[in-house]
Amino acid sequence: MIIIIVIGCDLFSKQLAEKLNVPMANIEKRYFPDKELCPRILTEIKDDHVILVNRMEFPVLDPNAYLVESLLLIKTLKEMGKKIEFVMPYMIYGRQDKQFREGEPVSARSILDILADAGASNILTVSSHYERTKDILSAKISVYNINGFEAFLEKIREIKNPIITGADFGVSENVDFISCALKVDSIVFEKHRSLDTGSIEMNGLIEAKGRNVVIIDDIISSGGTIIKAINICKNSGAKSVSVFVIHNLAKQETLDKIDKMAFFYATDTIETPKSEISVVDIVAKRIQSL
Ligand code: R5P
Repeated sequence: MIIIIVIGCDLFSKQLAEKLNVPMANIEKRYFPDKELCPRILTEIKDDHVILVNRMEFPVLDPNAYLVESLLLIKTLKEMGKKIEFVMPYMIYGRQDKQFREGEPVSARSILDILADAGASNILTVSSHYERTKDILSAKISVYNINGFEAFLEKIREIKNPIITGADFGVSENVDFISCALKVDSIVFEKHRSLDTGSIEMNGLIEAKGRNVVIIDDIISSGGTIIKAINICKNSGAKSVSVFVIHNLAKQETLDKIDKMAFFYATDTIETPKSEISVVDIVAKRIQSL
């Protein structure tokens, strides 16, 4: 794929443009007093094929504002006659990747369809839930779901005598990926979340005595899942616990609580004070291989 320019408004876009060795066009975001957004692409774009990068903003973390912003940018570029690769590092609405209860939407598919209708040609995203359910794939658009867990390998390799842990079966493929790559043991806990109340039950037996436990997950939001998992590990005698999450949607107070219990690392799919691990290289490599 020959990409001529990266369009974005933050460090992620800048770093991606540098990795791909292409120029970058900036976006300015202007808000009306009632919070409506009017984004503006500041650079004249002569090329036909562009990468639009948009990251959800911290600490706002508003998926609805993010969606409108992305749609406006995609539409504007489409009206300029561009072919658009849309990089959505954290795929909003990806959790609702099936109809859990009658009357609910399959949100992930609907969002993909809406982005396709606006004019995106392909979507590149990082470790989204959506792929768990094959029929979520939109018929209208190709989605490249990039394995962000690869970005954790280097840091986890520094941890001595680790055991890799996942808080529920949804993350088991990623637990296997890391434990195989590093040739270390792993275990996945069993989690049940009530669809009505959101309360979580978690069970798991882990021989953690004297071990440095590594908990991985794709998302942290309320923090309920990770905190339960940390407690199981600590109660089982873990020497230390390190948590690695791809998408950090947690509030500061949740992060402060976790900081007292474990080491915590997140990627830069959302720029937060904890985004120490970058997925830019992995995204750039995937784009180069298309
Ligand atoms: C669930 O399937 C995900 O992998 C995460 O475990 C979940 O979204 C985390 O949510 P919370 O932090 O609210 O427990």
